[in-house]
Amino acid sequence: MRHTPAVGDNPRQRFSLHEGLAEAIATFSLPDILGFGSVFAPVMFRADYRDGSWQPGQLQPYGPISIDPGAKVLHYAQEVFEGQKAYRVGDQPTALFRPAMNWRRLNASAARLCLPPLPESLFLDGVFGVTALNEGFIPDASGQSLYLRPFLFGTESDLGMAASREVSFMVIASPSQAYHAGSMSLLVERAESRVAGGGIGAAKVGGNYACALQSAARCAELGYDLTLWLDPHQRHDIEELSGMNFFAVVDGRLLTPLLSDSILAGITRDSVIQLARARGLVVDEVAIAIDELLGWIETGRCSECFACGTAAIVAPVRELGEADGTRYALPQAEGEVTAFLRTALLDIQEGRAEDPFGWMVPLPREYRQLADSDEVF
Ligand code: COI
Repeated sequence: MRHTPAVGDNPRQRFSLHEGLAEAIATFSLPDILGFGSVFAPVMFRADYRDGSWQPGQLQPYGPISIDPGAKVLHYAQEVFEGQKAYRVGDQPTALFRPAMNWRRLNASAARLCLPPLPESLFLDGVFGVTALNEGFIPDASGQSLYLRPFLFGTESDLGMAASREVSFMVIASPSQAYHAGSMSLLVERAESRVAGGGIGAAKVGGNYACALQSAARCAELGYDLTLWLDPHQRHDIEELSGMNFFAVVDGRLLTPLLSDSILAGITRDSVIQLARARGLVVDEVAIAIDELLGWIETGRCSECFACGTAAIVAPVRELGEADGTRYALPQAEGEVTAFLRTALLDIQEGRAEDPFGWMVPLPREYRQLADSDEVF
């Protein structure tokens, strides 16, 4: 695979800058209300793969792309993505959370969908370059961030059932608030499955999210916020929410479903487990039977449930319920373990606490310099 010198060299030698960048940046302003993922920052990154190698990328003004109607992604959904964040709260220098984990997971998802691997340096050029040129638009209130969305998709125009030989890698960014602020009510989904055993459930693939939309619509009709998915074999054990991992506090221990080929290995999940263990909490990664958990909520053995993910951070769950309206309420809208983990994680991400795990990666100087260079302004 042909690509790029290591990070630390001048990024300017690896990708180009579109001539419209200065205007795109100058004409953008942050709206007062951000929401999640609805405002797009003015600069994006794109690199293409063809003839067996990655071509040099480009930082470009955010905007529509042209795609052939026969492109594989439009017919066979050959697409994978990541979610990650850059933070600049208070007077902290801009930093990204565990970007190497996103790169590894993107490549694991890509392998599952027969997309070519992305060199780490190209991935980092995309996420650091987009962060640097959009740095002025990173919202700085606690809980807000620049949400980065790297993605890979097959662009070859051909309806044959074979992996695309042409692929694009893009990074777009959205100045955002947290995805689901507040305490959530979850529908136990007993009628449908998010994914199949042996399928693509452990990959971060657009199709998994499309599959969740019908249940999401039923949640809205029945007065729930999100779906709680069960294993696809017997619908017996809890798996995950459509875009978050699930945790419960039972008899003072933290339980979370053991990863499988149908659960996405969340980077926030991994971080929460490490934070909890460092705090002295016992964390069990185990099968959690849904009916057992509902019983534990009724008897008070389960004191808290929460979900976590990059976009959502750590989000408390106030109740679980069935399609027939039976509801199982947790004792508090937000329990003490949930609050502790959310605060501990955010304090590291937003630079208020020491980072004993080495999770935060400051935006490297060479990308910052790029943003200040005459070539852009
Ligand atoms: C993320 O948390 O980054 C995700 O991709 C989940 C999505 C539903 C927003």
